[in-house]
Amino acid sequence: MSFRIQPTPPARPNRCQLFGPGSRPAIFEKMAASAADVINLDLEDSVAPTDKDSARANVIAAISDIDWGNKTLSVRINGLDTPFWYRDVVDLLEQAAERLDQIMIPKVGCAADIYAVDALVTAIEVAKGRNKKINFEVIIESAAGIAHVEEIAAASPRMIAMSLGAADFAASMGMQTTGIGGTQENYYMLHEGQKHWSDPWHWAQAAIVAACRTHGVLPVDGPFGDFSDDEGFRAQARRSATLGMVGKWAIHPKQITIANEVFTPSEAQVAEAREILAAMAEAKAKGEGATVYKGRLVDIASIKQAEVIVRQSELIAG
Ligand code: COA
Ligand code: MG
Repeated sequence: MSFRIQPTPPARPNRCQLFGPGSRPAIFEKMAASAADVINLDLEDSVAPTDKDSARANVIAAISDIDWGNKTLSVRINGLDTPFWYRDVVDLLEQAAERLDQIMIPKVGCAADIYAVDALVTAIEVAKGRNKKINFEVIIESAAGIAHVEEIAAASPRMIAMSLGAADFAASMGMQTTGIGGTQENYYMLHEGQKHWSDPWHWAQAAIVAACRTHGVLPVDGPFGDFSDDEGFRAQARRSATLGMVGKWAIHPKQITIANEVFTPSEAQVAEAREILAAMAEAKAKGEGATVYKGRLVDIASIKQAEVIVRQSELIAG
C-alpha cells in the first residue's frame, strides 16, 4: 500500500440506478415503489428541448410530493454545453426540498466542469441556508471524459459516484456501433477460424474503476439499451461486477431485479469468503501468512479480497 491510504467509498447500496424522464411524471410513483437503490430523475437526453422547463418543474414538485423512502434521490441535469444546465442547478438548489441527495452531471470532460457546477451549487447553498450539502455523480461518456477520468474523480469532495455512458461514449470516440452497451458484433478475435467476442467497454470501465477507487468514489456501469435482452444485460452486469463496479443503471423496470441480483454477492460467494477468512485466521494463529484452501493458495491478499465480498454483502443487508 502506498503511504497514501486508499479512501473508503460511501457506505451505501448502489446496485441499481433507475432512470425516468422528468417529462413523464406518471411513472414517478412507480419509480419510488421500485427495488432500485438510486432514483435518477432525468432532465437531460430523455427530455425534448421544448419540455425542459416543464420537466424541471415536475421534478422539483416530485422531490417533495413523493415518498422516496430510503432511496438515494438524484436528478440528472443538462450538460455544460447546453443553455439549460444553469437553470437546472439554480432552480433545483433554490426550490427543491432537502430530500434531494445529489445531482448527476452528464458528459463531463475535465475537472473544471465539476469546479464550475461546484461554485454555483456552493453559492446557492450558502445564500439559501441549505443544511444538506448536495453530492455529485458524473457520467464519463466522451473521449475527454475518459482521458481526464482521474482528475474528474478528484475534482470535488462532493463527488460520490461515476458512471460509464456507453452510447455517448461510443459516439464521441467515433466507434462503429449503434447499440447502447453490450456485445458488439465486429469486436472479435479469430482463432482457428472461430470468432471469440471481446469486450470493447472493458478498458474504459477499468479506467473508471481505478480512478474511482483512488479517490473514494463509487464506480457504476451505465445503461444497457436492449431491455428485451435479459441475458445480455446480465452478462454485461456480471462483467462490470467482476471488474469492481458496484452497480448498473436500469432504463426499464425489468432490469432492476437482474442488477440487484448480480451486484448482491451470492450466498455461495459470501460463504466461501467467510471460509477463506476462517482459514486465514487459523493460519495466523499458527504464525503462518499463507495456507491452502480447497487446493489453492490463500494469503494475506486473499483476506482483503474476501473482505470486499463480506463488506458488500453486509452493506446491502443492513
Ligand atoms: N420507471 C418506472 N416504471 C416504468 C419505467 C421507468 N423508467 N418505464 C416504464 N415503466 C412502467 C410503465 O409505466 C408500465 O407500467 P404499467 O404496467 O403500470 O402500465 C410498465 O413499467 C411497463 O412499461 P413498458 O410499456 O414496457 O414501457 P414503456 O413503453 O412505457 O416505456 C421506455 C419504455 C424505455 C420509454 C421507458 O422505460 C423509459 O422512459 N425509460 C427511461 C429512459 C431514460 O430515462 N433514459 C435516460 C437514461 S439513458
Ligand atoms: Mg448520455
